[in-house]
Amino acid sequence: MSSVETTGTHHAPDADWSAYATAYDLLSRHNPEYKALMKDFEAFLSKIEAPKIIYDVGGGTGNYTEIAARLCADSTICLVEPDPGMMRAAKAKLSAHKNVTYQNVGLESAKVPDRADLVISVHSLYAMPEPEHRLADIRRMLRPGGILYLIDLGRPMDVRDWRNFLFSSIRKEHGLLGTLRIFWQGRQIARQNKAIFKAQQDGTYWTHTAAKIASAVTAAGFEIIDQRSVYRGYSDLLVCRATP
Ligand SMILES: C[S@@+](CC[C@H](N)C(=O)[O-])C[C@H]1O[C@@H](n2cnc3c(N)ncnc32)[C@H](O)[C@@H]1O
Repeated sequence: MSSVETTGTHHAPDADWSAYATAYDLLSRHNPEYKALMKDFEAFLSKIEAPKIIYDVGGGTGNYTEIAARLCADSTICLVEPDPGMMRAAKAKLSAHKNVTYQNVGLESAKVPDRADLVISVHSLYAMPEPEHRLADIRRMLRPGGILYLIDLGRPMDVRDWRNFLFSSIRKEHGLLGTLRIFWQGRQIARQNKAIFKAQQDGTYWTHTAAKIASAVTAAGFEIIDQRSVYRGYSDLLVCRATP
């Protein structure tokens, strides 16, 4: 299947996702917790019956789309991502995969010609306007019985806590100088995480407990199959089935 592209406008986010995009994949290389989430998704995908139609909403630089495109070569994966910088990084990464299509819009404007068997939303729901309504959008994207693989940042992003954690884990592998170099390259990550924290504080970005996201997901028409706290307790992972 060839690449299809749709473009559109969206309101400015509170984090500068385009600025974040330039350093974002340092996370997938050096953050053990980010890497653990990717592994978890890979394990999940290899256990289920291959989904034919997959949407990755707020797919960023395309790390989850890349896993899906690689493991589900016969599926069509649509990356929905409003930020042009993130989209550019994703397209560069995914150029070899012909089973990926792109929509450069927010989830709320995504076109869904055929309903999905699987929707992936990783660390994107909290950043969307009116997340509870966006969960209802996701429910409408899915066929009855379709699966939502949802990971969402629920607790305030404590930048100092993450800095300390990352510094000691990266130092074990790269030594002090190597770690300082990686932190310098990744300075946008700290900057954007501060912006995310501010947006969480002023209520622009959604924060939630595990119970609150569980009830939002249920209210949107999902049955929860599995739920866990992940990402050092900052995020919730939920695997949900769309009820008929
Ligand atoms: C922290 S990144 C997560 C990227 C990717 N899912 C990952 O885990 O690597 C959050 C992404 O959500 C996107 N986003 C923000 N508002 C959105 C919306 N209304 N609809 C879809 N995605 C949105 C941002 O542009 C950004 O790329």
